[in-house]
Amino acid sequence: MEPVNVAVIYYSATGTVHALAQAIAQGAEKAGARVRLRKVAETAPKAAISANPAWVQHREATGDIAEASHDDLAWADAVLFGTPSRFGNPASQLRAFIDTTGPLWFEGKIAGKVFSAFTASNTAHGGQESTILALSNTFYHWGGIIVPPGYTDPIQFQSGNPYGTSHVAGDGAPGDIALQAARHQARRVVDTAAALKAGRTAL
Ligand SMILES: Cc1cc2nc3c(=O)[nH]c(=O)nc-3n(C[C@H](O)[C@H](O)[C@H](O)COP(=O)(O)O)c2cc1C
Repeated sequence: MEPVNVAVIYYSATGTVHALAQAIAQGAEKAGARVRLRKVAETAPKAAISANPAWVQHREATGDIAEASHDDLAWADAVLFGTPSRFGNPASQLRAFIDTTGPLWFEGKIAGKVFSAFTASNTAHGGQESTILALSNTFYHWGGIIVPPGYTDPIQFQSGNPYGTSHVAGDGAPGDIALQAARHQARRVVDTAAALKAGRTAL
């Protein structure tokens, strides 16, 4: 069977979600998938970015990562979306990309894919679950198959978010536990997508 195609589509201003996205991409590759790591386009005003050195630095450091396109979504069997929490919701940059997908949705090119999500917030109760659940609203509308990590691996009892990998950015960069959880989430998504792909090929 053809390998599973996985798109990791994320937004990150200061690098936390980017670090999780890289671990997700590694986990998916290790599980046998073909992977596209894609950031969404920046939409914030230049003045806002230049007022934050960490934002400027991260933007420069990830200049070579391709921007997400509709082709990435259409190509993928599974998509993992990553976003920082913004007042309990996904970042507007990721929403802006999602809000361009009407034509793909209308043509039935998104339905039936596997979806999963990961996030970061500055504080432990800063809206991680609500951010992932808010993204799930879109997955329902797309007719997606939502695959959360749950408590399906011992690492989940340490990192502890069954909705999706999440990290408290106020504690510093994601450490080994969050990165392991990210890799586990990716593996679970790939395994599920592979089973679906095999089943559909056999139909
Ligand atoms: C407009 C805005 C709203 C935010 N809202 C919250 C929030 O409600 N709770 C929280 O814990 N962190 C909040 N944050 C912090 C971000 O979630 C945090 O900086 C982000 O997860 C870091 O990810 P990144 O390094 O990938 O950009 C907010 C940040 C911004 C800029």
